[in-house]
Amino acid sequence: MVTCLCFELVRKTKLKDNSDKKSKRDKSPSSTPSPAKPERASETVLDVENRCRIFSHQELATATNNFSDESLIGRGGFGTVYKGRLDTGEEVAVKMHENGGVQGDKEFLVEVLMLSIYHHDNLVHLFGYGAENNRRLLVYEYMPLGSLDDHIHDLKDGQEPLDWNTRMKIAAGAAKGLKYLHNEANPPVIYRDLKTSNILLDHEYKPKLSDFGLAKFGPSKDKSHVSTRVMGTHGYCAPEYASSGKLTHKSDIYSFGVVLLELISGRKALMPSCDCVDSQSRYLVHWAQTLFSGGHIEQIVDPKLSRKGGFSKKALRRTLQVAMMCLLEDANARPLITEVVTTLDYIVEYKSMRRTTRRGQRGDTERAGTSSSPDEMTRMLNVLAGKSDPLERRRVVDDAKSWADDWRKKGSQSTAASASQC
Ligand SMILES: Nc1ncnc2c1ncn2[C@@H]1O[C@H](COP(=O)(O)OP(=O)(O)OP(=O)(O)O)[C@@H](O)[C@H]1O
Ligand SMILES: [Mg+2]
Repeated sequence: MVTCLCFELVRKTKLKDNSDKKSKRDKSPSSTPSPAKPERASETVLDVENRCRIFSHQELATATNNFSDESLIGRGGFGTVYKGRLDTGEEVAVKMHENGGVQGDKEFLVEVLMLSIYHHDNLVHLFGYGAENNRRLLVYEYMPLGSLDDHIHDLKDGQEPLDWNTRMKIAAGAAKGLKYLHNEANPPVIYRDLKTSNILLDHEYKPKLSDFGLAKFGPSKDKSHVSTRVMGTHGYCAPEYASSGKLTHKSDIYSFGVVLLELISGRKALMPSCDCVDSQSRYLVHWAQTLFSGGHIEQIVDPKLSRKGGFSKKALRRTLQVAMMCLLEDANARPLITEVVTTLDYIVEYKSMRRTTRRGQRGDTERAGTSSSPDEMTRMLNVLAGKSDPLERRRVVDDAKSWADDWRKKGSQSTAASASQC
C-alpha cells in the first residue's frame, strides 16, 4: 500500500496561549488563513511508503466505544483525544481534529507526513489515520502517563511530584528526540511546537515528542533560516522568531530552554497574571533570568522538588546554566542540541558517577565537575547580560561541553577501575 499525500503549504500567523486551553488555538481574525498564498512555488507531492495504516471511521468508532466520554483522555487546540483498542489488541490514542479549514488540513497532513517518514525512540509512534469525508483522525501509540504537563503543573490531590532524576531523564530524552530531528532526520526538521503538553510519557517516564503539525523542513544548505509566519505557543517562542518570522533550529533550542526551566521550577511558561507584578514577569524566562542574574538560584527551584530533595546544588546550577544558555537572546550563541544532550546525559549520570568516583578519585572529582568557580559564574553572567564578545560566548559553551566530556571520561575510567577490582 502506498499512500500519496498531496499538500499545499499555506501561510498563517498563530501564537497559542498555553495558560488557557480553551483559547490555545487562536481563532482571532489575525489567525484565520490569509488568502492561500503558497509558501513554496509549486504543490509538493510526497509518497509515504507503507508505514501508515488508513483506518475507516467505523473501525475507530468501535475502538473508542463510539468516541464515548469514558474514553476521553484529553482535549487540545486541535480537538479531542480518546483512548481506544484496535482489533489487533493494541492500545491507542485517537485524536479527532475539530479544527477544520485549510490550516487544519495542512497541519493534519504535515503530522501524517512527518510521523510516517521519521521514527525514533523519543518520537511518538503514529499507527495511521482516518480521513473519511471531513472527519480527520490520527491514531497514535497510547502513552499511559499522559503529557509532562500533567506531571509538573496543577497536580491532582495525592499525585506525587516528579523527583529530580526523573525530571532530568525526561529532559535528556526530549533533547534526544530533538537531536534526531535536527541532526539525523533527512531532510532535517525544525519542530516549532516544543512544550510540556507535547512531551508524552510512557509507563517508565520515557518522553516522546508529539504534535508535528507545525514542523518545518529545512533550512536548505544555502539558507540560514526558513521564513514563515509566526506560529507556536506563547511563552515558548524564541524572541527573534516572534519578531521576524525567521525560523532556525535555534528557535527549538529556546523552547527547549523554557521546558527545562519548567522542569526545574514547576512553573508554567506563561504564569498566571495574579502571580506577577507586571506583564513581563508573567514570562517564566524573564522571572528566572532575573533570579539567576541576582544569584538567587534556590528560589527558582520547584518547592515540591526542594521538599523531596535528591539533587545537589551543583547539579542544579549546571542544569540552570544549560537552560540559560538555551535562552540566550542571541540565537547564534545558544548551544547546539548535541551539546545539550551531552550535558544533560552527564547530569543524569552524575549521581551514580559521583558514587563510583568517590571511591578512588575524590580530588579529581571535585576539581573536574562539581566546583563552579566565581570566575566561571561571572563569565556566565556576562554572557547572559550580553556583555561578552562572541568568542567569550563560544568559550562558555565549549566549557560546558568539555566539562561534560571530562565527567564522562572520568566516570568510565572509575567504572572500569572498580570493575577490575571486583
Ligand atoms: N498518544 C497519546 N497517549 C496518551 N495521551 C495523549 C496522547 N496524545 C495526547 N494525549 C493527551 O491528550 C492531551 C491533549 O493533547 P493535544 O495534543 O490534543 O493538545 P495539547 O498538546 O494539550 O495542546 P495543543 O493542541 O496546543 O498542542 C494531552 O495533554 C495528553 O494528556
Ligand atoms: Mg499536543
